[in-house]
Amino acid sequence: MRNFTYEASTKILFGKNRIVEIGNEILPYGNSVLLAYGGGSVKKSGLYDKIVEVLNNSGIRLVELAGIQPNPRVESVREGIRLCREHDVKFILGVGGGSVIDCIKAIAMGVAYEGDVWDFYIRKAKMESVLPIGAVLTLAATGSEMNGGTVISNDATKEKRATGHDSLRPKFSVLDPTITFTVNNWQTAAGVVDVMSHIFEQYFTQDKGTFVQDAMAEGILKTCIHYGPILLKDPENYEARANIMWASSLALNGLTATGKLSGDWATHMIEHEVSAIYDLTHGAGLAILFPVWMDYILDEKTAPKLAQYSRNVWGVKEDDDVEAARQGITKTREFFNAMNMPASLEDVKITNENIEAMAEGACKFGPVGMYKRLGKEDVAAILTKAL
Ligand code: NZQ
Ligand code: ZN
Repeated sequence: MRNFTYEASTKILFGKNRIVEIGNEILPYGNSVLLAYGGGSVKKSGLYDKIVEVLNNSGIRLVELAGIQPNPRVESVREGIRLCREHDVKFILGVGGGSVIDCIKAIAMGVAYEGDVWDFYIRKAKMESVLPIGAVLTLAATGSEMNGGTVISNDATKEKRATGHDSLRPKFSVLDPTITFTVNNWQTAAGVVDVMSHIFEQYFTQDKGTFVQDAMAEGILKTCIHYGPILLKDPENYEARANIMWASSLALNGLTATGKLSGDWATHMIEHEVSAIYDLTHGAGLAILFPVWMDYILDEKTAPKLAQYSRNVWGVKEDDDVEAARQGITKTREFFNAMNMPASLEDVKITNENIEAMAEGACKFGPVGMYKRLGKEDVAAILTKAL
């Protein structure tokens, strides 16, 4: 296990009705807040009214940014920056899933930056100062509620790019599982796949001697496998929503990556190219790509960890590592299918038309993946196998 420094600075307010406490969490930073949300689910569920009431009762002045889309666009970010500057906003509150939270992180770093915020995503700008942010999570998936990552799409350049910094971690996040009762089955399943994928990206590494991290990772995977199918049948099952919600935060708050050199992240980089062009739901893209990636990278060197996954998570009883790995990959594919996620790019009406462009985009800054380095040809081969 390597040396590491770990800090997960986000305060988590977990459980029913914790939104009543957000006024107290925000006021230390000031009383002028940008309230950001998505396309309307928060209004339909009544959550918006409750939050506005809590903030009004705390004497907080609100400016609103509505309509942040899934795969959030840089235009929403620019509009948010404009509003923050115009109204001298001191704190940003995002109410939504990963898209809303990623968007407020982008706004938070863009306000003090004189150039265009997209510069951060193409590695042209370094972060200097950021506005503090908080989140009310409405969909369990990305872990954005407890990490410093942000992913933004730019339709003009057909790019979807990620950046991140510890100072972008929310000051607090409200995790009330009942708020996720209204998430439909497609988004619920995509969220479960995303949580599992975050674990995969940090589990499949060359590091040795990380038993405790691996055991936590395997536990989170088992949580998803156990509760995911329950949610598709019983969306208001509190225990299942609660476990998946906490799993989403734990899967990408840095915990399971501690003591390791670096996660792999190739599959995420490839998926981001697909959703940049086709506006696909992130978790659905991962459901298609992850089993293909596992198959593609399987060799004598990668087999032991894939076999460990197969045995410890799926209970595969097979002594040969390569064969055990194959069985685990099949189980993964079957699970995603059982969650009604697409199994191929064709299932989501994507053809071979943009494969070269997507491979080029994924490798814009060099080869991807740490468990196995993949160049443009490899990425194109994975996308072709995913058709
Ligand atoms: O926009 P509204 O009307 O709110 O509807 C949303 C949206 O259509 C709906 N929804 C959210 N909460 C709901 C709800 N519907 C009913 N009831 C609720 N309680 O769900 C739809 C999808 O929302 P979105 O925020 O896009 O989903 P998710 O949380 O999966 O976020 C996906 C985005 O996060 C990025 C992805 O690439 C994608 O852009 N990621 C961010 C990461 C990070 N910051 O660490 C890591 C991830 O790997 C990922 O890349
Ligand atoms: Zn993800």
